[in-house]
Amino acid sequence: MRGLTRSMLAAAALAASAAAQSNAPARQPMAEEVFKNVQVLKGIPVSEFMGTMGFFAASLGLNCVYCHVSESLQDWSKFAEDVPRKRMARTMIQMVRDINTRNFGGRSVITCYSCHHGNEHPKEIPSLTQQYSTPEEDPNEIEIPPQPLAGPSAAQVLDKYVSAVGSAAHGTIVAKGTYEGYETYHEKVPFELYAKAPAQSDIVIHTQNGDSTTVFDGRQGWIASPSNPVLLLPLAPGAEIDGPRLDAELLFPAQIKGALTQWRAGFPVTSIGDTDVQPIEGRGEGNTRIKLFFDLKTGLLSRQVRYSRTAIGTNPIQIDYADYRDVKGVKLPFRWIVTWTNGQSTYQFTEIESDLPVDNGKFAKPAPAVLAPAKPVAR
Ligand code: HEC
Ligand code: HEC
Repeated sequence: MRGLTRSMLAAAALAASAAAQSNAPARQPMAEEVFKNVQVLKGIPVSEFMGTMGFFAASLGLNCVYCHVSESLQDWSKFAEDVPRKRMARTMIQMVRDINTRNFGGRSVITCYSCHHGNEHPKEIPSLTQQYSTPEEDPNEIEIPPQPLAGPSAAQVLDKYVSAVGSAAHGTIVAKGTYEGYETYHEKVPFELYAKAPAQSDIVIHTQNGDSTTVFDGRQGWIASPSNPVLLLPLAPGAEIDGPRLDAELLFPAQIKGALTQWRAGFPVTSIGDTDVQPIEGRGEGNTRIKLFFDLKTGLLSRQVRYSRTAIGTNPIQIDYADYRDVKGVKLPFRWIVTWTNGQSTYQFTEIESDLPVDNGKFAKPAPAVLAPAKPVAR
């Protein structure tokens, strides 16, 4: 989604589900409990529904209003209106389900991306240019070959990382910096982060429309954001919980080996820009698949990619790390760039401190987001 205006946010507040108003359930509300005109994508949590929308946009290389009236960017309720392309998309959802049921035992093998490949209109005629050229390798698409490559084991890669960052064991992290993303109209706003080992975190972003708070208490989490259709949502099981857990654990890197399970190595070396990287992968507690790419030279973590399943296909979420600096004996990345199918955001830390006291209340369920009067933007 590009920009969200204040009237759209006001509509979002009105559209918030009864569930959110009655003090957030442990379970996320279903799409049809929150939205007005859901005909085929029923029975899935709100986040998965929104993830499916991002998957459509990515698969067709389009933004949200291609299948929705343009007023939707100002007003959440307008997404409910039907337009020809939205109807076509419903037909396509049905078609994809039929293909997978009839041919692949119901597994999600064919998705929108299989045919559309980032295009509005799938191509019919093969490209000779493509056939006779070497396309640039996408490091995220690297997989372990059927005969895994000989090379360092996952444990060796992780040991090298821990010796590169330093093994000092901090108990807490308190940090601040600037954030920019679609919900801040790509302007820089202040944010703060509080974390406690092994895996608690609280990130508060002071957007122009109010505070956006993401809390993970070590087991479950919540997001209270004025730019979401529901103003307080529990994080859904799977990638939505496994992701914040790993992000918190990476602030205490000495414990990295215990952060994921089912570690696997055997990937070929690949590159991200000019940096040669060694990928390995592991699984989160909710079985989320996560790839980690380590700088071959320095041993530092360059990127993580985690995979989030939706009703129709799987979304990649990528975090690039840069600007490593020493924080009392541990090197931490001062820049995170998060890229996913709905947008890109940058966290630039200006200050990270360790072992300050952090009140446990920081990791309790937050109050629903409140739409604040517009604030001057910090730069
Ligand atoms: C390829 C077409 C397509 C794209 C692109 C798309 N959508 Fe949708 N959207 C749909 C369809 C189809 C439905 C109805 C699903 C159903 O009936 O189950 C829908 C429904 C919705 C709804 C529910 C509206 C209501 O109240 O019933 C919201 C909200 C929504 N989309 C938001 C988005 C956002 C945000 C984006 C961009 C990230 C987006 N959509 C991109 C096709 C699309
Ligand atoms: C088996 C291949 C295939 C799959 C899978 C597929 N599509 Fe399509 N789609 C097509 C073709 C072919 C067209 C063009 C039809 C035409 O030109 O009449 C099309 C057209 C469309 C259009 C209309 C484009 C326009 O501007 O006219 C939309 C929207 C669309 N698809 C959405 C989706 C979505 C969403 C999914 C996944 C749920 C999907 N498609 C999956 C083959 C596919």
